[in-house]
Amino acid sequence: MSINVNISHREDFPLLRDSNIVYLDNAATSQKPDCVIEAVEEFYHKHNANPLRGFYELAMLATEQLENSRTTVKEFINAKFEEEVIFTKGTTESINLIANSYGMNFLGEGDEILISIMEHHCNILPWQFVASKTGAVLKYLECDMDGLISDTAIEEAITDKTKIVAITQLSNVLGRENPIARITKTAHEHGAIVVMDAAQSVVHVKIDVQALDVDFMAFSGHKIMSPMGIGILYGKKELLNKMPPFLRGGEMIESVTRTDAVFAQLPYKFEAGTDNASGAVGLMAAINYINSIGMEYMHERTLMLTKMCFDAICKIPHIHIIGAKDSNNHNGIISFTIDNVHPHDVSQILSESNVCVRAGHHCAQPLCDFLGFKSCTRASFMFYNTQEDIDTFIKSLSGIRKMMGYGD
Ligand code: ALA
Repeated sequence: MSINVNISHREDFPLLRDSNIVYLDNAATSQKPDCVIEAVEEFYHKHNANPLRGFYELAMLATEQLENSRTTVKEFINAKFEEEVIFTKGTTESINLIANSYGMNFLGEGDEILISIMEHHCNILPWQFVASKTGAVLKYLECDMDGLISDTAIEEAITDKTKIVAITQLSNVLGRENPIARITKTAHEHGAIVVMDAAQSVVHVKIDVQALDVDFMAFSGHKIMSPMGIGILYGKKELLNKMPPFLRGGEMIESVTRTDAVFAQLPYKFEAGTDNASGAVGLMAAINYINSIGMEYMHERTLMLTKMCFDAICKIPHIHIIGAKDSNNHNGIISFTIDNVHPHDVSQILSESNVCVRAGHHCAQPLCDFLGFKSCTRASFMFYNTQEDIDTFIKSLSGIRKMMGYGD
């Protein structure tokens, strides 16, 4: 069955439907469809109570909604067990949880943590901290100027000293998908575990944690059309079971005495305090929405829009696209620089045409240093963008250098 990528679904998104905003900052956060907003509203209208605590009907309804969401996420990422799915605030909290609970307790002097040069700061800083406290050594897996991590780089970087490989599946600056299965295979051959940051990939790539065989995986709901403040940590049960809790407090215990506590079973051991139940309900609605329109359609349409924009940018003088030379390796992300124009100016000028893009170092400063710039502009796409969005963006982009006083 061929997929009709000409449908945009823009009408499903109230913020876009009711405005002339050209939203090209999808890698920062996605827009939310009606069904997600309505699901959150319905939770507060009909099901609001503190989940996992009460024995009255309303509280049990709230608990049921939370657990239905966990099941939906489990199926979405193809985890083996529901207790391997832990609700967090987002990718940053998930990675901090792994670093603090696994890294701080299972690493020692001379062990190596390997991260890639293209990591978001949320997958760098927690490991810098672990290295500084445990005596482990933080190393970098390099890519080339196109963002490619070669087999040779993988083979050379992962050794018997490597204990953790923490890597993004898709860079938020380059948009290129990394060879996770290959990295995982090599890491496991050397006895290391793999942490996959899926914050950017989750909306573009169908994630199957069992097929990839990653040990941990993290993503944020807000990048896949659900509310902010809800995220997921996936971990293999045998690893999560041997890790101590990250946060301590309500609902993550079996019992507490004056001096001690017995912790709850998975996943609750890692969910201290009141869960973001409305966020979880929104996440469930977002996943149901994705399932209804299809990941394949979303991906194919995003690639089509990326190519359209990539080809048009290539024709504008003085603009340099960062990363791969073919649009298929950009997965909805095109970062670029313009000769002699600061990215902040680019973003502000585009804003006058209602175009929203991100400018700066994109929380990936080591990558920017490696690639030789301090900041860049990033346009990022989702299936709900339209050809008109691209046309408006390209028209405005083409005039920027002239507006800044250059002849062309
Ligand atoms: N991580 C998000 C981005 O790349 C915020 O913009």
